[in-house]
Amino acid sequence: MDWIMDNRVELINIAYLIAAVCFIVGLKLLSSPATARRGNQIAALGMAIAVVATLFMPGMQNIWLILVGLVIGAVLATFPARSVKMTAMPQMVAIFNGMGGATAALVSLVEFQHRANVGRGEIVSIVLGLIIGSISFAGSMIAFGKLQELISGRAISYPNQRQVNAIIGVAVVALGILLVVLGQAGVSYLLIVVLFLTALVLGAAVVLPIGGADMPVVIAVLNSMTGVAAALTGFVLNNQALIIAGILVGASGAFLTLLMARAMNRSVSNVLFGAWGAAAVGAGSAAAGAAPELPMREATPEDAAVPLAYAEKVIIVPGYGLAVAQAQHAVRELAETLQDRGVNVRYAIHPVAGRMPGHMNVLLAEANVPYDELFEMEQINEDFANTDVAIVVGANDVTNPAARDDPGSPIYGMPILNVDQAKQVYVLKRGRGAGFAGIENMLFHDAKTAMLFGDAKESLSKLNSAVRDA
Ligand code: TAP
Repeated sequence: MDWIMDNRVELINIAYLIAAVCFIVGLKLLSSPATARRGNQIAALGMAIAVVATLFMPGMQNIWLILVGLVIGAVLATFPARSVKMTAMPQMVAIFNGMGGATAALVSLVEFQHRANVGRGEIVSIVLGLIIGSISFAGSMIAFGKLQELISGRAISYPNQRQVNAIIGVAVVALGILLVVLGQAGVSYLLIVVLFLTALVLGAAVVLPIGGADMPVVIAVLNSMTGVAAALTGFVLNNQALIIAGILVGASGAFLTLLMARAMNRSVSNVLFGAWGAAAVGAGSAAAGAAPELPMREATPEDAAVPLAYAEKVIIVPGYGLAVAQAQHAVRELAETLQDRGVNVRYAIHPVAGRMPGHMNVLLAEANVPYDELFEMEQINEDFANTDVAIVVGANDVTNPAARDDPGSPIYGMPILNVDQAKQVYVLKRGRGAGFAGIENMLFHDAKTAMLFGDAKESLSKLNSAVRDA
């Protein structure tokens, strides 16, 4: 026991090293749906090791208060995390992320006040951690409010908004510089509280003008910021585990942001500072509602059943509507019926199908769709041309040929699934509603496309029965 107490700092550092290895291995395993669950468990184990090790730090005080906080936090997080619907996942990530930002900001506030002789370098970390953490917290709360529909999900704007935001941004930077220049001794605590509040206002002000549907990208940006704020706090507290975890979150959030923006063919600044959804509606001749209603060919489940039952190759294209309808089990059942008849069935997954990264993979995995039936866009796109039937389930923008063929389209340049090259296409959606981009999809008016109107789950089960009877 004595030996442990004598060497506890070294033992804590070893525990942090093990935790860091767990984070890195966990992150690596998250890159495939087959290993993602294991990856999450390993990373969580790493975090548990780091938390427990920290409790044994020399000088640790208020241990009971910390334990009570841990229990309250665990209880408050466990229930919603277990019961959250897949479509509500972005707001859950937003609120968890916001808590991380708030924690970094609060630690910075407290350390500035209570730490003796804070050096210039540490003040830089404290001020940056405070600013970034506060922006991330306030921005995440606004994102949560929009996604949960507590406030309007639309872009909220007012005259001279950009100028106002720029002024708040300049004020935050100026206050931060002032704090660093004056140093701990020369500053009253009030100044750092003012900086904290101004950074909160900036976080909210920056996210308010962004439309609700762009929130997944915004959340990835905020997530990355929380990681950076946590790493900065790690420097202040001299805590290696926090530094490593923060850097991993910061880097992966930044990569995710770039990947999502690239898959939508938009720049990150366009997402953050340009109201794309608003610009898209009404832009160009293809805008929904701008042109006279084009004809669509309707089909019944019985019409679709025969070509499906006798097809050799079928590709299913899931989209946001599949998630809304919670139709993941119904789609797997249809695929199984077809496979029992000897049809080759695969799923084509677009990187931004749905409303969050990996949305379709997670949904289909939940319904036990085998991973080897899921194909990324690049792997399967050339195969549409020799596919007998493509079934589009609640997907829209990710199949829109205008992105490939119409330079005037607001989504021109976004990579799409080449559904229009299949020999026949059935589209399952409720009606003529547009997708996230708010634009017409000419695929739905193509001569080889037939529409099966209705909720995706109901349509799929009717289609399944019809194929069984065919
Ligand atoms: P969308 O283009 O949004 O289209 C979804 C379609 O589903 C709608 O046209 C809607 O038509 C239909 N739908 C809704 N509820 C339905 C239900 N219960 N049953 C059947 N159909 C239903 O979806 P997508 O093709 O998956 O494309 C995703 C879009 O989101 C892209 O524009 C992408 O850029 C954007 N986005 C994605 C992400 C990530 S990370 N995935 C992040 C930000 C933005 P009806 O109303 O007629 O039914």
